[in-house]
Amino acid sequence: MEAIKLGVNIDHAATLRQARGVDYPDLAAIARLVEGAGAHGITIHLREDRRHIQDADVYTLRKTLTTRMNLEMANNPDVLQVALDVVPDEVCLVPERRQELTTEGGLDAAGQLDALRPTVQALAAQGTHVSLFIAPDRRQLEAAATLGVPYVELHTGAYANATGDALKRELDALYDAAAYGATLGLKVNAGHGLTMENVKPLLAIPNLDTLNIGHSIIAHALFVGVAQATRDMLAAIAR
Ligand code: PXP
Repeated sequence: MEAIKLGVNIDHAATLRQARGVDYPDLAAIARLVEGAGAHGITIHLREDRRHIQDADVYTLRKTLTTRMNLEMANNPDVLQVALDVVPDEVCLVPERRQELTTEGGLDAAGQLDALRPTVQALAAQGTHVSLFIAPDRRQLEAAATLGVPYVELHTGAYANATGDALKRELDALYDAAAYGATLGLKVNAGHGLTMENVKPLLAIPNLDTLNIGHSIIAHALFVGVAQATRDMLAAIAR
């Protein structure tokens, strides 16, 4: 089986910055560390509410990234304009509701074929690989194939939150969707809510291309970094 690639979502480094309205942490520097550690791409979500990633981040990162930029966005003309301007390597179209804590459900591609088609076509025309963030559901995979996108990203949020029998059902749905996607000629990514623990059962899915993981990596970074950060501050205030 081919190795699974990792796209690291750095939105929550921006969340930390936006919480104070300051100019640190420097996202380009974070992305450099992530890329230097071996990530295959950087994922950022330019939300309509600009809660974490800002337009300026997208432009800066487009210049500084040495791997692939995967821009997540809603099908919204204002954000589309940014995507048409910066030409990301990949765009993942996601649903968005302003009040949600994070992207809570998959995109209803089957119910929005006409609304999605011009966006998909405009992005494809500039060479951006388009992906649709969908639930592991055959109808949605068929819609993706109808739209002619090369990639889908299976929403692993329900799997990540499930326990007991539901966990087995969600895992089976991901296996089925990955296999069905492959028969439709789709490349299959997955992401949302994945951790070093719950990702393990997904690793045997044969045709999984990339996992996009963010929140748990940024959270883990605190544990592997906070002791050094404390030592550095002690050194900074020593006299
Ligand atoms: N993939 C998509 C399409 C997402 O919307 C998100 C969250 O922005 C992720 C992956 C990463 O999810 P998490 O931060 O929970 O790892």
